Amino acid sequence: MKRKILVTGGTGFIGSHTVVELQQSGYEVVIVDNLSNSNADVVDGIEKITGIRPKFVKLDCNDKEGLRALFAQEKNIQGIIHFAASKAVGESVQKPMLYYRNNLVSLMNIMDLMPEFGVKGFVFSSSCTVYGEPDVNPVDETAPVKPALCPYGNTKQIAEEIIHDASISGVPYKSIILRYFNPIGAHPSAEIGELPNGVPQNLLPYVTQAAMGIRKELSVFGDDYNTPDGSCIRDYIYVVDLAKAHVKALDLMLDDKSKDNVETFNLGTGRGVSVLELIRTFEKVTGVPVPHKIVGRREGDIEKVWGAVEKANNVLGWKAQSTLEETLESAWKWQLKLREKGLM
Ligand code: UFG
Repeated sequence: MKRKILVTGGTGFIGSHTVVELQQSGYEVVIVDNLSNSNADVVDGIEKITGIRPKFVKLDCNDKEGLRALFAQEKNIQGIIHFAASKAVGESVQKPMLYYRNNLVSLMNIMDLMPEFGVKGFVFSSSCTVYGEPDVNPVDETAPVKPALCPYGNTKQIAEEIIHDASISGVPYKSIILRYFNPIGAHPSAEIGELPNGVPQNLLPYVTQAAMGIRKELSVFGDDYNTPDGSCIRDYIYVVDLAKAHVKALDLMLDDKSKDNVETFNLGTGRGVSVLELIRTFEKVTGVPVPHKIVGRREGDIEKVWGAVEKANNVLGWKAQSTLEETLESAWKWQLKLREKGLM
């Protein structure tokens, strides 16, 4: 019998790519999502790619009784991947209570229900934001957690602490915390991808929209950083590679192969890429110019961060496979698809 996995936020960007990989690896998936930042059509895209329609339930994870009813109905959920969360840095500064409630109440609801229904493994979406500006790059999982620069970042830190404290108390399930670096790109089929709401806040969706002419020009936030070309450096990880790591994490826990009750892994490529390098590479692989200008620094930006990924390589048995070129091509293909569908 297929192992059944509940994926919260499964119609979102990383969630939808993970559902595809789970189904292609033989897992049965139930998606819960409140559709606050995604669209139910994503389920069609997943079905087109995999030939399997995942079960979709529209539900807010803050609704504990709704979740309880779902667990009772589904019966044998063996693992949970919890993506559902609010993630806009700027918005979190404006609406901190919304972020603490959405990101922490939902987490606690799920953690309360797991022992009740015998769920064995829990995967939590965290972020390299917990490292702040690292003292050393590549930054590994033992690096100190730095004070958060915004409520969003703080919710990830608190969530990690909640998971550790629950584990120390002896909860009957294992947890894996995945710290994502900067996820980008789209499924090579262009059936699913990132659909930012309004003006994109993240770099690559802005790049593809500027290349498409939807935005006049990209603002590059600063070229006076202490980096080779002066622009900030990040570790851009292909979303399909990232999605595959979630399958590995579940395999590890459900096969009883995880060593500790809570394990934390960086998910990145191990390579830092500057903003200007990303723009140049995009232009090279697509042949499409990206109108851009240098402007002042963005408040709160980290100068440089990229991940040490040896632990994920060795323990999880996972490694980023795709090149930056392939990843950027997939993002452009997705942008063209959005145009074709009249969505952008
Ligand atoms: N950038 C621009 N112009 C833009 C957008 C971004 O130059 O229009 C630059 C940023 O200054 C940064 C890089 O592109 O140097 C990446 O920026 P993103 O906003 O795409 O990503 P961040 O690394 O800033 O943010 C990510 C996640 C957040 C998380 C944060 C913590 O998107 O959720 O890491 O470091 F909180």
